[in-house]
Amino acid sequence: MCGIVGYIGPREAYPIIIEGLKRLEYRGYDSAGVALFDGTDLKVCKTKGKVVDLENKLPTNITNTGHIGIGHTRWATHGVPNDVNSHPHYSNSGNLVIIHNGIIENYEALKKELIKRGFTFQSDTDTEVLVNLIEDVKNKENVKLGKAVQIALNQVIGAYAIAVFDKTQPKEIVIARLGSPLAVGVGKDEFFIASDASPFLEYTKDAIYLEDEEMAIIRLNRDIKIRKIKDDSLVDPYVQTLKLNLEEIEKGGFDHFMLKEIYEQPRAITDTYRGRLNRQEAIIKMSSVEDNMKKFLNADRIIIVACGTSWHAGLVAEYIFEDLARIPVEVEYASEFRYRNPIITEKDVVIAISQSGETADTLAAIKLAKSKGAFVFGVCNVVGSSIARETDAGAYTHAGPEIGVASTKAFTTQITVLYLIALRLARAKGTISSSDFRHHLLELEMIPKKVEKVLESNEHIKYIADIYKDVHNFLYLGRGYNFPVALEGALKLKEISYIHAEGYPAAEMKHGPIALIDENMPIVVIATKKGHYEKVVSNIQEIKARKGKIIGIVTEGDVDVRELADHVIEVPETLESLSPLLTTIPLQLLSYHIAVLIGKNVDQPRNLAKSVTVE
Ligand code: G6P
Repeated sequence: MCGIVGYIGPREAYPIIIEGLKRLEYRGYDSAGVALFDGTDLKVCKTKGKVVDLENKLPTNITNTGHIGIGHTRWATHGVPNDVNSHPHYSNSGNLVIIHNGIIENYEALKKELIKRGFTFQSDTDTEVLVNLIEDVKNKENVKLGKAVQIALNQVIGAYAIAVFDKTQPKEIVIARLGSPLAVGVGKDEFFIASDASPFLEYTKDAIYLEDEEMAIIRLNRDIKIRKIKDDSLVDPYVQTLKLNLEEIEKGGFDHFMLKEIYEQPRAITDTYRGRLNRQEAIIKMSSVEDNMKKFLNADRIIIVACGTSWHAGLVAEYIFEDLARIPVEVEYASEFRYRNPIITEKDVVIAISQSGETADTLAAIKLAKSKGAFVFGVCNVVGSSIARETDAGAYTHAGPEIGVASTKAFTTQITVLYLIALRLARAKGTISSSDFRHHLLELEMIPKKVEKVLESNEHIKYIADIYKDVHNFLYLGRGYNFPVALEGALKLKEISYIHAEGYPAAEMKHGPIALIDENMPIVVIATKKGHYEKVVSNIQEIKARKGKIIGIVTEGDVDVRELADHVIEVPETLESLSPLLTTIPLQLLSYHIAVLIGKNVDQPRNLAKSVTVE
């Protein structure tokens, strides 16, 4: 995870780097640091904590010098978050500095060798080993920085996006990538380096995305030279013009990114089906599905791989695909799938779901599935991300940048894309009638308006949040399509409020969780009209009998649950298969308000990161 930034050009580097780090804080915020070269001297400042702690720590004279610099915001892997383990890391001579996103897996062996050769280490990090390895190679082989980086990286096992600066060659920065993302913004006589494009969007929209196993030497007032790390061959830089706007990655008047993103869902869902769903002509047009229709239709089964919230979207999709298109679906945690020797054949279609498109386990699962001959389809939000590029075909969610660490609009737009695909396949297979198909299209088109309606309950949800904000445990129950929503609701609460929460299929409650229920236990029950309503009402009775506090998510006009529950939150009526797009919204808002009311950092919860590029 971690975010890296760099600048080389005529502007002052410091403000670009510090603002860039703030935009990349979603990638990790255990510590932050910068290295700036003022023309004669290299200055490094770093600290445990957030970028604002770094700003407060910086001596004023560091802020007005230099046109070359690098910066880092860390999500700790090797070594606890403290000042010493923060990046940038110096080499032993003090000439080289490095920032790194990733993990050097063989760092212990390399470190032992370097210690034998007289190197000493201040930190517990793998990164300090890498910078000293580069220095060792540079001295031993008597080569320049670029070559030393290349030779060193060929000895490394692991993942990295790095930027290295050498004060004895102060007109260049060397960068390299394997497994962790790295973009270069190309301006006039200047280059920006970053984990994603957000730090340089206001300066340039022209970007080069380094591919795995590529490195680049970026020279002041000159050019960028990209090479393959393994065979040294030159690569033609492919400069693409980005369509992202800066406003899309700012808070726009909301207190937190998470709240902004919750409120963006009507727009995001519309953007996701726009141009794909044509109700007048009763068609769904998705070129990546049309082009691969045979593969989908001949598939023995669909295997969905994902992590976190995306995995929950996969679970919803399992219900959708099986119900509408009658295709068997298995949903797997990417991290388990990749290590359990799964049976995959050429007749399997693998769908990988990932907001960031960078999740290491999902990426590895894709590579495994491809190596076994499966057709791999990606559902990603970030355009041009590693997963989007690694898959055989795919569909973007078009949710726009999601910055809040707790995923919200990514989830609902992932479900929307998967719904469109399932409907299209159902039509092609004839498992849905033409009138039902039209009805689904109509209902899907109405979802954004209905989400707006749910958002109107915000104040009511805040009131409920205030009542339960101090409890230590929550239970979330749902059945069928809304069982994954219960899991997602519990995850949201855990992530941002640190309150323990469990999601369960409502009927399974009897087999364990019921033992937890007493008058102090709030239980959120998703009890919409069409989802096995009577059964869920019985479950609510069972909770009531044990004095649990019931927060019901119900269909507008509901009477039965209202009578039993302590609180209800209404959502408009829709098809059962589409209900997750509505029932999720109050759960997002409930977690948001609880976290805010108990003073937690909603956008940057402890220990988490938005993009998990380590396994
Ligand atoms: C992290 C994020 C989650 C996200 C998961 C999968 O844990 O904090 O919000 O659901 O990664 O990420 P992806 O980008 O692959 O959807």
